[in-house]
Amino acid sequence: MTKLGALDINKIHKGDCIELLKKIPDNSIDLIFADPPYNLQLNGELYRPNQTKVDAVNDAWDKFESKEEYDKFTTLWLKECHRVIKNSGSIWVIGTYHNIFRVGTILQNIGFWILNDIIWIKTNPMPNFKGTRFNNAHETLIWATKSKESNYTFHYHSMKVMNDDLQMRSDWLIPICQGEERIKVNGQKAHSTQKPAELLFRIILSTSNPGDIVLDPFSGSGTTAAVAKRLGRNFIAFDREEFYVKIGTERVEKIIPLSKPLLEYKIERRKPKVPFGNLIEKGYVKIGEYLYSKDEKHKAQVQADASILLEGEVVGSIHKISAKILNKENHNGWTFWYIKRGNKLISIDQLRHDYENKFLKSSSSAYNEIQFENNIVHETEENLLSYGNNEIQSV
Ligand SMILES: C[S@@+](CC[C@H](N)C(=O)[O-])C[C@H]1O[C@@H](n2cnc3c(N)ncnc32)[C@H](O)[C@@H]1O
Repeated sequence: MTKLGALDINKIHKGDCIELLKKIPDNSIDLIFADPPYNLQLNGELYRPNQTKVDAVNDAWDKFESKEEYDKFTTLWLKECHRVIKNSGSIWVIGTYHNIFRVGTILQNIGFWILNDIIWIKTNPMPNFKGTRFNNAHETLIWATKSKESNYTFHYHSMKVMNDDLQMRSDWLIPICQGEERIKVNGQKAHSTQKPAELLFRIILSTSNPGDIVLDPFSGSGTTAAVAKRLGRNFIAFDREEFYVKIGTERVEKIIPLSKPLLEYKIERRKPKVPFGNLIEKGYVKIGEYLYSKDEKHKAQVQADASILLEGEVVGSIHKISAKILNKENHNGWTFWYIKRGNKLISIDQLRHDYENKFLKSSSSAYNEIQFENNIVHETEENLLSYGNNEIQSV
């Protein structure tokens, strides 16, 4: 797949995001990350106590005539996002106190359903130079779905593992983009608000799948596109400034996607469900033979329809009959019943695993075409998200 509607995939397009979004078909995007203008409305220059000028966001792309104009703009691009996003997709919008509350209201008015607000706590924020307010040390991300009924992607277990087996919380401690990760042109920051790759890494990893299409309407230095490519996702990104399109494109070209096996969500994979009836159909359990409790005090005969008959009297599923014996409402029959093979008792749960291994395993190895040497995957240095030298050459 190289195109989506009229637009090339895996490309940063130059233009106004509202116009470009109109070229995308309905319900076709899996994930949107949007870092829109903040509408900071800075008045005049800001200086540090030592009289050096503060490098604040003062760009033309952040200027709006009024709050009403900003709201109108926000409504237009968010409505388009709502149209293009799949029911299984989700959207992330990042902002500061200047705009995030307005964005949040508009999102909800359009019909998006908010799942979380994430606080990105900056470990190294810019100080409040005037000393007139608290140090503004965070940004807010809203994570939302198309509607309340959306069947969205969330890799819960992977996030838990990333957080040392504790549920990933909604406060994320991540440094602002600095040092070698910062894209530079002629030694100067290429973009005033380049977001850290870690932030996009966590978002894309947790709420999309390899092969999905990730859209960024406000690409800037191309952080979303770069991380999406690295994580084996497709991307479509927009920026209205030629300069940023060039920078982002050159940045993305350097990225080498991770190999597919490293991107599989192995930890999320749930066991395929094998009903007891499958074991009978395949002859793992014979019709007419007996299932036994571990202490052999109870036995039940297997019927042709996969029900079991307890002591010639009560009939039901393996679960219902074990629950009845144990005097419980519900019970997992897989852990209760055994079958005799020779002189040995074998758990029917073990038979289920044998069945899974034999008949259901191959469907999960979709990436068989890649050969690995002794199962070691070699990743080159250039494969890292923040490569040694982020100086852009061609602009
Ligand atoms: C906050 S920055 C995004 C920074 C980006 N997340 C990064 O990591 O570099 C917003 C970007 O949106 C672009 N922009 C502003 N208005 C736009 C519009 N109407 N259509 C497309 N791009 C726009 C600006 O040129 C700017 O690069």
